[in-house]
Amino acid sequence: MAHRVTELSLRIPYIWNLFNINKSAGNKLLETKLFGNTYPSPLALAAGFDKDCNILNNVIKLGFGFVTGGTVTLTSRPGNPKPRVIRITKDKAIINALGFPGKGIEYSVKNLKKYQSIKKRIILSVSGTIEDEIIECIELSKDLISAFEINISSPNTSGLKVFQEPSRLRGLIESVKKITDKPIIIKFPPWNNSLDNKKEILKLIETSLITNVEGMVISNSHPKESKSIKVGRGGYSGEPIFPDTLKMLRQVQAINNGYADIIACGGISSANDLWKVLASGAKSGQIYTSLVYQGPSLPSKINNGLINLMKIAGINKIEDINGDPPKI
Ligand SMILES: Cc1cc2nc3c(=O)[nH]c(=O)nc-3n(C[C@H](O)[C@H](O)[C@H](O)COP(=O)(O)O)c2cc1C
Repeated sequence: MAHRVTELSLRIPYIWNLFNINKSAGNKLLETKLFGNTYPSPLALAAGFDKDCNILNNVIKLGFGFVTGGTVTLTSRPGNPKPRVIRITKDKAIINALGFPGKGIEYSVKNLKKYQSIKKRIILSVSGTIEDEIIECIELSKDLISAFEINISSPNTSGLKVFQEPSRLRGLIESVKKITDKPIIIKFPPWNNSLDNKKEILKLIETSLITNVEGMVISNSHPKESKSIKVGRGGYSGEPIFPDTLKMLRQVQAINNGYADIIACGGISSANDLWKVLASGAKSGQIYTSLVYQGPSLPSKINNGLINLMKIAGINKIEDINGDPPKI
């Protein structure tokens, strides 16, 4: 319900223009280079917030360098039965098992056509259980966005695991590269101490690097059982997963060697967190759950906080961020 209210108000640009909270993303200090494109801030909106690309033109004004629309699938989907999203307020976390509800690619394409002036700052997240479905989504939208994020990692959508098999993933990336020269970003599932899947995910990451993907999202929400969710489990997101995001990011960066640009995702909720992921090899950080908890002024707050930290550290380029954030 809260999400719906936010979405409805974001459809009224007038409200957000009044706040003029976009200023911070225009600061030269925050300029960020990713896949050969320049974005005005390293802070980005993660996939899932605007599944049908209804409000990307307004949500970008909150101060994001780029926004990720989707995840979009070829045809419309009802998603999983409700209840399918719960807040765990004391931990500032969410468990969701939405299962990609959405109106399908043609509906999103209609919306994307309205955003020509910001298309260089839109990334579209696409997914599906069959390669041809993903290819068709990309074919229909490739002239309307700046890069594609392929989601192979939703913990609560049955069938998606097919692309967690290296040869299938390689085939998919090669097919996509035949139809577009837009950058391809793969969104990987996470590993943490309780997930016995690190080897398999590292293999997928190696496969993606061999296939020359331009970007990787490290990573997605963490699978978690919950009796409050109708399907019994979902993806856990928010502040508690940040330490795992940081750990995974550092290990992936060690094998990445700068080949692909890494976008960090999972629990980022402050300028300090964004500094830490940038200092650990990410070029950018995406947020979702912290936006739900802290509200629409958060992107601007994080941008201004990062500018402040950079000034204190005497750094004037995002690429030069390293070490721990300076103490304020
Ligand atoms: C309600 C909800 C819906 C989501 N839907 C998607 C989705 O459609 N596609 C996707 O790739 N990730 C989806 N995610 C995962 C987020 O993009 C992000 O990877 C994850 O929440 C971790 O980041 P956070 O801690 O900043 O939220 C969703 C997350 C939430 C909370």
